[in-house]
Formats: sequence, structure tokens, C-alpha cells
Amino acid sequence: MRNLIDIVDFSVQELKELMDTACDIDLHPEKYSERCKGKKLATLFFEPSTRTRLSFEAAMLELGGSVIGFSDASSSSAAKGESVADTAKVISCYADIIAMRHPKEGAPYVASKNATIPVINAGDGGHCHPTQTLADLLTIYRQKGKIEGITVGFCGDLKYGRTVHSLIAALARYNNINIVLISPNELKIPDYIKEEILDKNSMPYLETTSLEEAMPKLDVLYMTRVQRERFDDPKVYERLKNSYILTLDKLETAKKDMCILHPLPRVNEISVAVDKDERACYFKQVLNGKLMRMALILKLLAEKDACQDKDEKNLVVNKICCNNPRCITSVEQELDNIFKLTDKKNGIYRCIYCENQSIKKEID
Ligand code: NCD
Repeated sequence: MRNLIDIVDFSVQELKELMDTACDIDLHPEKYSERCKGKKLATLFFEPSTRTRLSFEAAMLELGGSVIGFSDASSSSAAKGESVADTAKVISCYADIIAMRHPKEGAPYVASKNATIPVINAGDGGHCHPTQTLADLLTIYRQKGKIEGITVGFCGDLKYGRTVHSLIAALARYNNINIVLISPNELKIPDYIKEEILDKNSMPYLETTSLEEAMPKLDVLYMTRVQRERFDDPKVYERLKNSYILTLDKLETAKKDMCILHPLPRVNEISVAVDKDERACYFKQVLNGKLMRMALILKLLAEKDACQDKDEKNLVVNKICCNNPRCITSVEQELDNIFKLTDKKNGIYRCIYCENQSIKKEID
């Protein structure tokens, strides 16, 4: 079964096809208005969301399909203790495709292993958010006319900002991309992104705390919200929440055709005055998100029964436990602990659900 759990589940060619379909939907919406007639999308949102859920719902309705689901874990059987695996099996009897958001990292992956219908990851904890990446890629493509050969600055909460993690993973597949990582020291990008994506793909990147210093180099500036809900200590959030605020005067040194993105919701990291600047593209990004979700639903339903290649090599099952408290393995009963050997030389194993590195020695 074809799912979208991680953006790397799709090739560059497939991403291009999705973008082409999204542009065609934009031009000829009437051609698509009945494509999903009789089909149901289940939106299983175990974590609060307005735009992503409504974007999925609008996408399915504009394709002529219908939507069932919930937007709050307390109104689902999870509140009674149901596992993600059981929820996925049950919903497979009611719907044709699932979009799932969950606070635990790896939960949509667990759902995909148990569902008999395609599963889309609509955001799992601080891990990834591949459909936001679809919106981001289409916006970059439409604004810049290309994705290759650009310098992209990510600013804000790079530690918990799942949209950042997924977009970097996607950009790693395009040529000549430069990355600038702008964050306070406490909110730097996780090591697994540096080791598994940036270093492995020899992507040039630099880390800085200064937005002003980075600004003149950037073709795309990706601003993010400091993710309050992921902090254990509210005082740390209070200290960091206003680390970066993009204002019109800070844009004076930026390229005239720089493109400003933000996955939204914005708190105050972009001043409202910036909205009028031609470089502000974050509301276009919202529309592009809906178009890409329409293209995605069409693709996954069309490919429902095609086989997916799975890299089952180098997997270690149940010999070690993931020590990331935000990982789905910390709550889901009966779940195998599965680790993938990602760095043979140094004996580094990573949890296949959340990608956390849990052990550094060779396992027999
Ligand atoms: C993002 C998310 O949920 O990770 N928002 C979204 O998908 N619209 C970014 C955020 O919440 O800050």
C-alpha cells in the first residue's frame, strides 16, 4: 500500500507529478470536482489543528468526496485507551484514506502498518510533516520557477519544528541547495537531521544565531513558530518565544525577490506589516497546501494497491528500546522496538518510528 509517512517516500519525479497535478487543479478545478465521488477521507487529529485539518477536508470536498473524523483526542476512543494500531484497523472499515496527526512521533507509521487503506502523516510530534512540505515545495517552485540552486534559510524553532525537518529532507534530493540554519542554541536542528540528511547528502549548511547576518544570502526565508506545546519547562518557552521577529526594516538587506514562507499559525515571529511586502508568500502557501493535498489524495487512491518497496535491510527488532519519551513506542503496547543500522562504521542504530539514536555500540 502506498502511504505518505515521510517526504522521502516520494521520489523527485513523483513530487514533480504532484506539483503538475496541483497546478492543473488550480487552472481547471471543474475537471476534478467529481474525481473522489463516493470516497471517504478520515481525518484523525489527536492533536489540535485548524488549517491542516481543514485543508485536508476542503481538498476532499473539492474532489467530490466526503469526510469523517475527529479533531480532538478526547472525543476519540484513544481517551478510552485504544491503541493507534486498533484505531487504524477500525477506520479502515469506514473510510478509503486516512490523514492522521498525532503528538507521538511515529504514530502515523504505526497506523500505516495496520491499516488496509492509505495513511497520510499530517504531523507527528516534533518529527515530520510531509504534507506541509508539499505546500512549501509548490510555493517555492511557483515563486522561483525552480527548486534547484537556491539558498534556503530556516529561522526559529529548528528543534521541534517538524515542517523544517521534512522540508530539509525534501530539499536534500534537489541539486545545489544551500541551507542556513538560524536559531537560538537551545533550538538547534536535531543531530539526526545533520547526520542522516545534511552530511549524508553533502549539503552545504551553516548554523548561526543571527537572522541579520544570514538575510542578504537568502532566496527563501522559512520562518517558524516556537513550538510552545513541545517544551517541558514553560519558562524556557517564555525566554525563547520572541527570539526572532521579522519586521520590514530587517528586510532591507534581503534580496528583492526573496520569498518569505511560514507554515502558519504565526504568533508574532512575522510582523503583520510584512504581509503587504511582495516577498510575503505565506498565504499563497496555504492555497498551495490545499492543491497539493488534492493531488496527493488522488495519487494515493489511484495507487492504493500498488506495492511499496520497503528497505527491510539492517533492522534489529526488540533488542533495544527507544529512549525518546515523545516516541510512539513509549505508549503503544505490543509494538516491536525496531532499529535500523544507519551508520555501520560507528554502530549507530536509529528507531524506525522517531529516528532517535538510541545506542552507539554494535549489537549482536
Ligand atoms: C505547522 C505544524 O503543525 O507543525 N502548522 C501547520 O501544519 N499548519 C507549524 C506550527 O504549528 O507551527
